[in-house]
Amino acid sequence: MTPVIFSTDPGIDDAVAIAIALADPTLDVRLIVPLSGNVDVHLATNNVRKLLTFLGQSHVRVVPGSATPLLRPLINAADIHGESGMDGFDFPAPTVQADTTTTGVEAMHAEIKASAEPVTIIAIGPLTDVAVLLQQHPEDKERIDRIMIMGGSLGRGNIGVLSEFNFAVDPEAASMVFKSGVELHVAPLDVGNAATIMPEMSERIRDLGPVGDMFYHLFRAFRSGSFETGLQIYDPLAVGMLLVPDLFTEEYTHVAIDTASELTAGASLIDLQDYLHRPANAHVAVDVDVDGFREWFVQAIKLSD
Ligand code: BDR
Ligand code: CA
Repeated sequence: MTPVIFSTDPGIDDAVAIAIALADPTLDVRLIVPLSGNVDVHLATNNVRKLLTFLGQSHVRVVPGSATPLLRPLINAADIHGESGMDGFDFPAPTVQADTTTTGVEAMHAEIKASAEPVTIIAIGPLTDVAVLLQQHPEDKERIDRIMIMGGSLGRGNIGVLSEFNFAVDPEAASMVFKSGVELHVAPLDVGNAATIMPEMSERIRDLGPVGDMFYHLFRAFRSGSFETGLQIYDPLAVGMLLVPDLFTEEYTHVAIDTASELTAGASLIDLQDYLHRPANAHVAVDVDVDGFREWFVQAIKLSD
């Protein structure tokens, strides 16, 4: 089994990504580090606790991560995910506890150090904690198999003209991760915009069982795209790139993150035409088998029920 650490900001699409990974028999999710992004770290941690309790996955360690980006004031996405970060379903009170005796970064480091196998990080929120980990513990780089990232955009942004939310929250952190030399796989906005989740899929998911029903209610409340014409559920794409890579076309290319401009901070310069003449540093999904992804998505949620 592949050892996995999540860096995440649940977030409705984060919750789906986590549930899919937890249910997959080839992945061993050992640690979840929630951080501020879609909502603040307290709400994000509470959401992980609620989700794990609901899924009956009480063995997974939860350690809260960063409360703020490295340099910038926090922005959130409560307009998309709701004030709680997971609006739309009335979760039972969580019994899973978070471990606050250490930091998210130190918990990631300890897990990477102790693991017999190289660890895969799935980073589906701002990259603050991953950047701090790689800077404070550079020796961990060779013990990380790869980092699966949801973030960036081949085209336009979803929080700025050219900036995608996860990178825009903490551009400096994203830039550090892309300069780290670790193997990176990136699901940008564009593949999520292509592989939207349609109402008939949500209805199939509702009928799978209690977990499917829970996600159906979250999807109804989700404001990323439209329930009727297609929801953009981005974070599971990073898990999909790990589990079903044949569904994706990847380009190995240079990615630079804009940290200098006031207008486009966090924009991802995914240099497919090699304008910058810089070495490749990331495998970026440029296309997805939409029908294949949609079917995988429903079946992957089915495993959770
Ligand atoms: C990303 O931003 C968040 O709102 C989602 O959870 C996803 O990680 C998409 O831009
Ligand atoms: Ca997210």
